[in-house]
Formats: sequence, structure tokens, C-alpha cells
Amino acid sequence: MGILIKNGTIVTASEHFVGDVYSEDGIIRAVGKALQAPMGSEVIDASGQFVFPGGVDPHVHMELPFMGGVSSDDFYTGTAAGVAGGTTTIIDFIIPNRNQSLLDARDQTLAKASKAVADYGLHMAVTWFDDSVKRDMGRVFREDGIQSFKIFMAYRGAIGVDDVELVGVLDAAHDLGALVTSHCEHGDAVVALQKRLIAQGKTEPKYHAHSRPSFLEGEATNRVIALARATGTARNGHDATAADAPPVYIVHLTCRESMDAVTRARSEGQIVHVETCPQYLLLDDSVYDQPNFEGAAYVMSPPIRPHGHQDYLWNALRAGQVDVVATDHCPFMQETQKVKGLHDFTKIPNGAAGIENRMALMYTYGVAAGRISLEQFVDVCCTRPAKLFGIHPRKGAITVGADADLVIYDPTGSYRVSAKTHRHNVDRNIFEGFEIKGRVTTTIVNGRVQFHDGDLRVERGAGRYLRRT
Ligand code: URP
Ligand code: ZN
Ligand code: ZN
Repeated sequence: MGILIKNGTIVTASEHFVGDVYSEDGIIRAVGKALQAPMGSEVIDASGQFVFPGGVDPHVHMELPFMGGVSSDDFYTGTAAGVAGGTTTIIDFIIPNRNQSLLDARDQTLAKASKAVADYGLHMAVTWFDDSVKRDMGRVFREDGIQSFKIFMAYRGAIGVDDVELVGVLDAAHDLGALVTSHCEHGDAVVALQKRLIAQGKTEPKYHAHSRPSFLEGEATNRVIALARATGTARNGHDATAADAPPVYIVHLTCRESMDAVTRARSEGQIVHVETCPQYLLLDDSVYDQPNFEGAAYVMSPPIRPHGHQDYLWNALRAGQVDVVATDHCPFMQETQKVKGLHDFTKIPNGAAGIENRMALMYTYGVAAGRISLEQFVDVCCTRPAKLFGIHPRKGAITVGADADLVIYDPTGSYRVSAKTHRHNVDRNIFEGFEIKGRVTTTIVNGRVQFHDGDLRVERGAGRYLRRT
């Protein structure tokens, strides 16, 4: 049965106009004005509402074993919360343990992901490096459509790599034509600062932020950019320019120092992509001052930054210098998981939820607040992540032939974010009390209405694995 959405303001990354979208068998079949639906089609009147492409969140961690726990949203609850918030595609991560084979870790993650309610792709994290890892990077690239490899410059002693390994990954990815994505923090310096703070008895959540200052993120961002450039130079000799470097994608960029490193590299011709997240745009480090260990809910890496960095990122976003707004969705229960770090902030599992809130936050504090246009909103939340990670125009687009992943957003009215009402499987919401303008009224996933007027009708396992190109 087809679905005709009528008279909505259709928003793409390049334009918006009042029109209709007709989909059938999970695919968009027509976009235009005054479309007629075949008999028996469902007709949804979207007058006065926006029609966005389904959100694409390329940075989430469902049921991730991490820091002695497992993130509390699994692929079912996490993708369901996403659908309620207008996100219809995720890209999660395969994160092998040190010395675990990439293929073994891939099989484990694919098994967990099979309960997703929305389509999903996977990045491969490379947490150690030798010839077997290099060979398996090639295998997953060719056989599984895994086109992006993630490295952690933080988390030394666990999943973080050293610079020799990092160069190996950059070089192997360059051979394949794959994209390297990087968590940028000076891992060894963070460990040194953590040790010093704990030795001084500074154990509360706020010291997490003290142990990971923004200049250590800036240093690592600059370093991965330089090492990518070295990879190009090693191939092309002394004549190599920044343009010979393989592209890199900086995940969850939080601060002025990192943005400046990117701007400098870009001005020299190097391709560097930037992702940030709503928490780095909307929160400042005063969140860590909350009493009774409540600051632990905001313990994530990199940490929430001091006042000032947020406007710097908004300005970069507005100027088109930020490619993607993702969530880094990685929740841990405050009462049973974060509490493990009650007497030592280094033991607080890092991460927080956001997948249900991303689209509404970016609409409210981006578009409705006049900071970015409707088109920019769609670009950073839907289209650009789909393009960069090889799933466009199937995802992130409202165009004939694309998957029928659509979001209808009513810009009128308001509500407040709360852990009491959210669908994330976690007991805190870092955006607690934030006012949202408008709401997602309908989410269509692969041609089926999965969320309508607060009613979530997702199907466990309906999501399909996305082989990326
Ligand atoms: O604190 C965070 N960000 N947890 C998830 C893992 C990561 O670094 O992305
Ligand atoms: Zn990270
Ligand atoms: Zn992450």
C-alpha cells in the first residue's frame, strides 16, 4: 500500500517548497505538487508541517561493552528511540578488543544489531594494528561494505591506538580509499592528568573535565591531520601537498582549538570532515557542578567544554564548516552503572543518550533560534552524513528512488525534554528541562508508519544492514 503525504513543506539540503511525497513498497515514487494517490493509499495531510528526510545518525553505540559495563540502549531500544525522534538510520561501531580479530568482532556486532527497528550501517574501529588487521580491513571493506575505519587517540591501555598504529591504519585506509574517523584526545596526557588528580584526592565527576582539557583535543586533532598528511607525503615524496593526504573525519569535535586546526588544514587544501554533537553546542561545563554525583550523567569524552566553545561551534556550523551533527549516543544508567565511579571519576562509564532528541534540539536551537537554515539542518542531520558514509541518495534524501524514510515535523507547540518521558533506556537525560519547539508527529521507516502522534509501532528486527559504497 502506498502513502501519500500531502501539502507539507518539503525540506531538502538545498531547498524547501510546499508539495507532496508519494511512496510505495518502501521507496519514494514521486515528489511534486497535487499528486494523486492510487486507490487504497494512506493519505497524510501535512499542511503547516515540515517533511524532512529521515535523520541519519552516523555516531551511536548501542549495547557497547565499555569501561566495565554495557551501554544501556540495545539495538532495539536505541533505534526505537531514534524513530520516535525522527532518526531512521544509524551507523554504529564494531569495536574489537585489543588482539581480537576484526572479523570475529564484526560477527558479534552483526548478531546484536539484527534486532534494530531501523536500517543500520557499521564503522570498523581499529584498536590494534598488524598485518592481519590490515588484511581484515581490506576484507570488511570489500565484502561487507564497511567503508570507514575509526581510531581512538584516547582510551590508552584499552581501545586506544598509539601513533605507530595510527599511521598504519591511515596508510591501510588510504590504500583502500576508505575514510578514517578519529576520536581526538591526547590519550597519554589524559592518563597522566587523571593519575595526578586522583592522587590529589580530586575524585568527583567535575575532575573528569579537568583531566581532558580542550588543548589536548586540539593537539590530537592537529596530529591526526599531520599524520594523514605524512601518509600522502610518504607516497608522493617531497612534492606532496596537503591535497595528497587521505581525508579524515573528526568525530565529536568540541572546541575552538580543534576547529582551528581543521580550518588551518583546510586552508592548505587538506580534506578534513567535522562532526559535532548537540551536547557540545548546548551545554557548558557548569553541568559538572551539580551536587550528589549528578555531574556523572555528563561524563563523556571529550567532556562538555567551558563557556565560549559553544558559540564558536555554532558559528562554524552556520558558516558551513561543520559537516555533521551526530549524537555519540552511548547511555549508561546513573544509578547502577555511573555509580561505579562514585569515588573515582576515571571509573565512571563515559557516555550519554541523545538519539531521540537530536533532530528536535537542532530544529529548536538551530532553525527556530535563527542560527541555521532549514536546509542546513537537513544537511547536517540527514544528507551529509549519508553522503560521507556512502548511503546517499538511498538515505538522507527526498528524491524519487530513495528509501521512504520520512519525518513529519509540526513546528507549533512545545514540550520539555525529560528522562521521565523519553524513550531512551536510561535514567537521566542530559538535556533535562530543555524546551523543544514543535514535535515529530510522524516517522515513516522504509515506507511504513512507525511513529504517529506519540504512538510508537516499531518492529523488532525490521532494520536492514546497510552495505555502504
Ligand atoms: O564518552 C563517550 N563519548 N563514550 C562513547 C565512546 C566514544 O568515545 O565515542
Ligand atoms: Zn569518542
Ligand atoms: Zn562515540
